Amino acid sequence: MTQIEERDQVESRPTLRFPDRFVWGVATSAYQIEGAVAEDGRGPSIWDTFSHTPGKVVGGDTGDVAADHYHRYVGDVRLMADLGVTSYRFSVAWPRILPSGSGAVNRAGLDFYSRLVDELLNHGITPALTLYHWDLPQALQDQGGWTNRATAQRFAEYAVVVARELGDRVNFWITLNEPWCAAFLGYGAGVHAPGHTDSAEALTAAHHLLLAHGLAVQALGSVLPPDCQMAITLNPAVARPASLAEEDVAAARKVDGLQNRLWLDPLFHGTYPQDVVNFTSKVTDWSFVRDNDLAVIATPFDILGVNYYNPVIVGHYAGSGSRGRDGHGQGTGETWPGCPDIQFPEWPFRRTAMGWPIDPSGLYELLIRLNRDYPRPIMITENGAAFDDVVTDNNRVRDPARAAYIQEHLAALHQAIADGVDVRGYYLWSLIDNFEWAYGYSRRFGIVYVDFETQERIIKDSGYFYSLVARTNTIAA
Ligand code: NOJ
Repeated sequence: MTQIEERDQVESRPTLRFPDRFVWGVATSAYQIEGAVAEDGRGPSIWDTFSHTPGKVVGGDTGDVAADHYHRYVGDVRLMADLGVTSYRFSVAWPRILPSGSGAVNRAGLDFYSRLVDELLNHGITPALTLYHWDLPQALQDQGGWTNRATAQRFAEYAVVVARELGDRVNFWITLNEPWCAAFLGYGAGVHAPGHTDSAEALTAAHHLLLAHGLAVQALGSVLPPDCQMAITLNPAVARPASLAEEDVAAARKVDGLQNRLWLDPLFHGTYPQDVVNFTSKVTDWSFVRDNDLAVIATPFDILGVNYYNPVIVGHYAGSGSRGRDGHGQGTGETWPGCPDIQFPEWPFRRTAMGWPIDPSGLYELLIRLNRDYPRPIMITENGAAFDDVVTDNNRVRDPARAAYIQEHLAALHQAIADGVDVRGYYLWSLIDNFEWAYGYSRRFGIVYVDFETQERIIKDSGYFYSLVARTNTIAA
């Protein structure tokens, strides 16, 4: 090949290459896909209770059957292998392992995840295991759930049970998924299980979730082989002030305080942010923090898991009219304890079917900021989009908007890596359409379509697109 031919070839197919050994994964969670809620000794979780409470989930949907993954995991693993992904992030359902939350271990529950892990490994797919993706055993909720300090200890015990079973085959361990949602949407806004609306409870739950993480990291450290990686997955906010006016900037800083620094400061520095303690002091006196808790919470872990979907615009609220919904389309003004003065103005740009703004620059901005303020290797543990998918006559799902969303976010991620952020991999949310919490089955995030009547799976066009990315370790520039 002449030099010109060589150059032409490069120029006609410009690509961005990701680092060697970059992880290309897909993600799901137990309650959202498994179904089989009453099988093999599984106990009830707070999401069973919540979804069966009229009015809590769109369409009255529940996770009773979901995508029937519990029975179809072999086919689902084959799908992943067909797509060419190198890793699968799933969660273990605590109520399958300890149906009453603590005490007696349910062997059949452990067996399911053991079979799943073996199936993955047989296909060359690396398991990434999340211990808590929101399905708290109902028995523990009956004792106060995450507002009860003892739940943190129960979590560490549960983590050890799972680690003893799977530690020889699972290398990547994520303690909690998006504890901000568990605390603030579950105990503050009431839109997630257990559906409470109490700001003091939300902050108490936040502390106990952090404590649970720290206790689990300590306990796992003595059970897992030394080469295992431990992580926590957060959903940090990219909180953009509605204007440069001082009061809008202050409003955005409050969201940054509650969704970012409230979690990152104790995890990385063993302190709670003083401004957050101050502006929530009318809500709680923080007496749930005991001696030594912060040292436990700051126990070193290996990787910061980051879920990113969209940024949020925050403005000052002067006290009349609607405060809007936050950028998650889930929380309302009430999600933010001690913040009666903030609101969420309408986002004027492109949106997904969740109503979430599409803005990949938020991912870049977030990664640069995390790397600056909280340096640690990062794994993107979730990113993806819901769109209104339709199956065409020839059994195809054309979803160019989802493929474009993925492509744009990967380009932003690539830029962040080029600018020095240590990102180890990317997990797309989600492998298959699933139970989208309070939205039930009305929102589809999968790169594989699920017909919830027949449980047929159809790889969407975005799935073929992502497959190419995973197989080539590149995206088009
Ligand atoms: C965050 C959660 O971890 C996951 O369970 C959820 O389905 C996606 N984001 C989309 O909302």
